Amino acid sequence: MQHNSPWQTIFYRSLAAHEKIPASRYLQLATVDNHGHPHCRTLVFRGFNQDKNQMYLHTDNRSEKMSQLEIHNRIEACWYFSETREQFRFSGHVESISDKKSISQSEQSKTTSCSPEAQRLRLTHWQNLSDALRESYGQNYDIAQPDENFVLLILHITRVDYLRLAPLPHLRVIYHLDASENWQAKSAVP
Ligand SMILES: Cc1cc2nc3c(=O)[nH]c(=O)nc-3n(C[C@H](O)[C@H](O)[C@H](O)COP(=O)(O)O)c2cc1C
Repeated sequence: MQHNSPWQTIFYRSLAAHEKIPASRYLQLATVDNHGHPHCRTLVFRGFNQDKNQMYLHTDNRSEKMSQLEIHNRIEACWYFSETREQFRFSGHVESISDKKSISQSEQSKTTSCSPEAQRLRLTHWQNLSDALRESYGQNYDIAQPDENFVLLILHITRVDYLRLAPLPHLRVIYHLDASENWQAKSAVP
């Protein structure tokens, strides 16, 4: 497990600089469908696991991104921080923590997880949601049991393309996790 990824210091600084700006919690998640067509949409950032380089997002099992992720679970998430004029492009793969029933009904298992630990994490995320958001997954929700449509997405980050526009000149650094699980950094132009 890789700790203290070099890009995390920059990322946490950007998050802190934008903590009072609600719109700065939105990022764009790109997936690819079975025809190779890209699809991109806005999602709310739901947290980060510093030790594991994992980002958390929430979605609905009925959404199209779920069927796309079952086929290709590699993603890119793009996030622009307006005040500091920084862009982060996170790449890696997604692990979907769905309802146990929906996992066993479908044959896919490579991209989904129903381990007790994963389900506990899903429950914690469910319980931290507002009532209104819980209701958006289904009426008569149970706070002790996530709705069957509620999915916790875990982005396992293996590459970060960082761009800082200001001050000039632009700074671009690409970080990637090598085969030995060490982060490597390389400057890039433009
Ligand atoms: C500001 C904003 C925040 C959003 N947050 C989420 C979110 O956290 N999770 C989600 O699944 N969809 C969210 N959406 C809706 C998605 O952008 C998208 O329309 C939806 O997930 C269906 O996408 P799909 O058909 O590609 O799966 C948000 C939309 C906006 C405009």
